Amino acid sequence: MPAAGADLSPLFSRERLNQMSIQPLFPDLASPTLALGWGQIDKLYTTPDPEEWLDIEHAAAARQQEFIAGRNLAKVLAHSLGLPNISLRRGDDRSPRWPTDRCGSLTHCSTVCAAVVSTTEVIESVGIDLESVGRVETKLWPTLFTARERDYLGQLEPEKANVEATVFFSAKESFYKCQYPLTQSWVGFQDVELERSDDKVLRISPTNGDKQRWHVPPIHVAPVDEQHVATLILLYR
Ligand SMILES: CC(C)(COP(=O)(O)OP(=O)(O)OC[C@H]1O[C@@H](n2cnc3c(N)ncnc32)[C@H](O)[C@@H]1OP(=O)(O)O)[C@@H](O)C(=O)NCCC(=O)NCCS
Repeated sequence: MPAAGADLSPLFSRERLNQMSIQPLFPDLASPTLALGWGQIDKLYTTPDPEEWLDIEHAAAARQQEFIAGRNLAKVLAHSLGLPNISLRRGDDRSPRWPTDRCGSLTHCSTVCAAVVSTTEVIESVGIDLESVGRVETKLWPTLFTARERDYLGQLEPEKANVEATVFFSAKESFYKCQYPLTQSWVGFQDVELERSDDKVLRISPTNGDKQRWHVPPIHVAPVDEQHVATLILLYR
């Protein structure tokens, strides 16, 4: 096992990067200070960083694999931005403790994971989420969606509504991950409301209280593969 923060250049060799087959995600938004990608958990799984291992040593095997794969992906993305390798520990509240030079967000489903990493000079906070299409059953709508959101979803063809409900759920998870580092606060599913702007963008607003700067950015939506959709919110400085 390498020492924490060790030279991981073998991780970034062309051969190893090819094996990991990291796929682009939201390519139009990527820049020299913003890296995004997704991949298969089994291909991204590698020898764990010993400090990060402390956070999941007692977890189930599948949980260890998704955790390690997500961090591995984040390391590769950080490296592509010229950032040094630093362990990404998990806080007591389960959120990732990003090193001060960067911010990012992680997400995983059973077989795939995705990550975004940027520099804190450019981005104040970010949230990303992946979901399997069809996961959000109609019986969950009253818990997850406001009356207005349910009206909108109810007017769609059933197949389209199924995909859109997944997108809306994912968007709320992305929003939660983006706002949490700024507020350290819980936000419930009825506390925010989504609206479609166009086929690639949603807007979010609070259902109670004042609009804050983390309610302002658009939430980007993109297909990942046939089974998964991703959402992303970027709060630029
Ligand atoms: C925290 C939460 C958003 C994670 O989403 P999820 O769909 O369960 O799981 P994902 O795989 O997409 O994301 C998990 C990753 O989110 C990150 N994460 C966990 N808690 C976080 C927090 N409070 N803030 C930011 N990121 C967090 C972690 O990196 C985690 O992966 P890791 O443990 O391997 O590091 C979700 O479990 C939750 O608690 N949701 C309830 C609150 C909510 O979503 N409200 C919506 C209305 S805005």
